[in-house]
Amino acid sequence: MQIGNLKINSKVILAPMAEITDFAFRKIAKDYGAGLTYTQMVSAEGIAKGDFNTLRLLTFSKNETPVGVQLLGNDANILGAAVRELAKLNVSIIDLNCGCPVEKVVKNKMGSYLLTQPKLLGELVKSMVANSNGIPISVKIRLGFRDEINVLETAKIIEDNGASAILIHARTRSDKYNVDPALEWIAKVKEISGIKIIGNGSIFNVNDAVDMIEKTNCDGLLIARGALGNPFIFKQFNLMEKGISYQPEESEILKVVLQHIELLEQEQGFTKNFDRAKKNIIWYYKNYNGIWCLIEQLFSASTFTEIKKIVINHAEKLKSGFYPEENLEIVNKNFKNKVLFWLAKEEKGKVCYN
Ligand SMILES: Cc1cc2nc3c(=O)[nH]c(=O)nc-3n(C[C@H](O)[C@H](O)[C@H](O)COP(=O)(O)O)c2cc1C
Repeated sequence: MQIGNLKINSKVILAPMAEITDFAFRKIAKDYGAGLTYTQMVSAEGIAKGDFNTLRLLTFSKNETPVGVQLLGNDANILGAAVRELAKLNVSIIDLNCGCPVEKVVKNKMGSYLLTQPKLLGELVKSMVANSNGIPISVKIRLGFRDEINVLETAKIIEDNGASAILIHARTRSDKYNVDPALEWIAKVKEISGIKIIGNGSIFNVNDAVDMIEKTNCDGLLIARGALGNPFIFKQFNLMEKGISYQPEESEILKVVLQHIELLEQEQGFTKNFDRAKKNIIWYYKNYNGIWCLIEQLFSASTFTEIKKIVINHAEKLKSGFYPEENLEIVNKNFKNKVLFWLAKEEKGKVCYN
């Protein structure tokens, strides 16, 4: 697929996720066939000022390509300056966040608030394009800010101001995750647009991906929660297009989990990485028996060596059929709504079969 001058070799893309799509996560998604991955949202102002903590959030290696960076901002000059800095770093695509629903962000007139400001939005996109030195600009949007949907108008403004792609999360800002994405709106945008339209919302498996394409005719797919603990989804989609079905073996999952932990461990000095490793481990094993036991053990672990041992031990128990069958539906439901991890506290009383 071609987005502006960027050619990517798969239409499945890893969505930006705050505190999640770090270097380790992106590397594994890419190794498993994601055509493009995005960093989490970062402050355009922080980049423009060269703020260390902001720049650190988008750590990537020189050979990481393609890589997309997502910016949060609402000032055309600042966004332009941030884009100029990113162009020096040779990033592959730069995205403007117009979807973030978080109160603090909206209060600062950023994220999904920009959906209420079409004129300003046009100016922001125009400035990003003008400063990008040819690097394509994408804009991630929702269907609207409140219940009224203005995605067609928003899409037109974005295209008219020179962006190369629109990533559409098919929900409004007021919709929670338990509302199904309104795919018909992606279809309508696709019909009127001449730039790439990337569909987003509740793609958890290959069937959801096919459904999104069939219902919307979109050019590409953006996957967020469906990729948590499941980089395999990218490979599954790519192989499915060739008529091949694929399911990772348990040994392959273990290998990836250990690789993921090691990548986080290697990134020295990032204290958050230890908790992040735990979070990712839980996501990898969320659909397997013994999840409660794993969560409990991880909570009390305090070193990377310890969590690796726990994982190896867990994988052995799974292989030997040690854990009794569990109803994993509740885990799945909570996961989709809340992205799991804090479940252990809510689900007190679950038995850990040590
Ligand atoms: C934990 C988490 C963090 C997110 N962070 C971002 C972000 O930094 N920028 C952004 O545009 N969207 C962010 N999103 C929204 C996702 O990119 C995506 O649009 C949304 O989750 C719908 O896709 P899904 O149904 O595949 O999860 C985040 C979502 C989650 C679950």
